[in-house]
Amino acid sequence: MTMHFLQIAKKLAHDAGKMALHYQEKGFRTETKGAFNNLVTEADHAVEKLIVETIRKNFPDHSILTEESDPIQGTSEYKWIIDPIDGTTNFAHGHPMFCVSIALIENGKPILGVVEMPTLNETFWARSGDGAYRNRHRISVSQKSDFKECLLAIGVPYDRGSERAEKSYKMLRGLYEQSRGVRRTGSAVMDLCFVACGRYDGYLEYGLKPWDIAAGKVIVEEAGGMVTNMDGSILNPKEENLLASNGLMHQPLMDFIRAQS
Ligand code: IPD
Ligand code: CA
Repeated sequence: MTMHFLQIAKKLAHDAGKMALHYQEKGFRTETKGAFNNLVTEADHAVEKLIVETIRKNFPDHSILTEESDPIQGTSEYKWIIDPIDGTTNFAHGHPMFCVSIALIENGKPILGVVEMPTLNETFWARSGDGAYRNRHRISVSQKSDFKECLLAIGVPYDRGSERAEKSYKMLRGLYEQSRGVRRTGSAVMDLCFVACGRYDGYLEYGLKPWDIAAGKVIVEEAGGMVTNMDGSILNPKEENLLASNGLMHQPLMDFIRAQS
């Protein structure tokens, strides 16, 4: 059964990625959501509509949680978690780092994730128990265990000036000083996928929502990595703090985070 879900999710992510790319090339309207720096575009809405309609047509009893519209409550144990465009600020500025993220949860547990990166021609995907893949290639996390050899990623929450934003700036500096470098991709899902395939050795961010996390979490875990709260406890999206790593860097990163507070 999950193979059928995966096939539909991959085709849908591919079509959605093509639609997003088409909008980026032809132009689109952009609005703000509350804060001046929290954007949503015409493309986010159009891609979300395509994804939601396709899921509703194929699985009318499934629940759906998406970034840009009200949740749909179904009767089955399955829930889709969708970010139509992750990296919307990049997208709105013509920057190529954005993706479509589709995850499926069964009784609260993510069981598959598909992430389409149309400008990179890369699809990251995983199904629980079956490993993680980039296009046709099996991927795994890196083997780095020393900060001096690591390339890391950090995100900064939208609520600039907040306590967690201040902590993020401080951590950025601390990580930068002891690693090979720190990146801020602008898409949480891409950051997670890049941990999964060994481009990054660790990634942390405050303020993420379920649609920023769900697909990437399955992909990192199936690639052999770890995704938890920043204190190492089981990830609880309501706590809005996330640490992902290749596993070897998890304890060093937890120690680093604890030392900052
Ligand atoms: C955002 C991106 C970004 C992260 C933000 C997210 P959006 O999602 O994932 O990297 O720093 O916290 O909200 O708005 O582009 O879908
Ligand atoms: Ca989004």
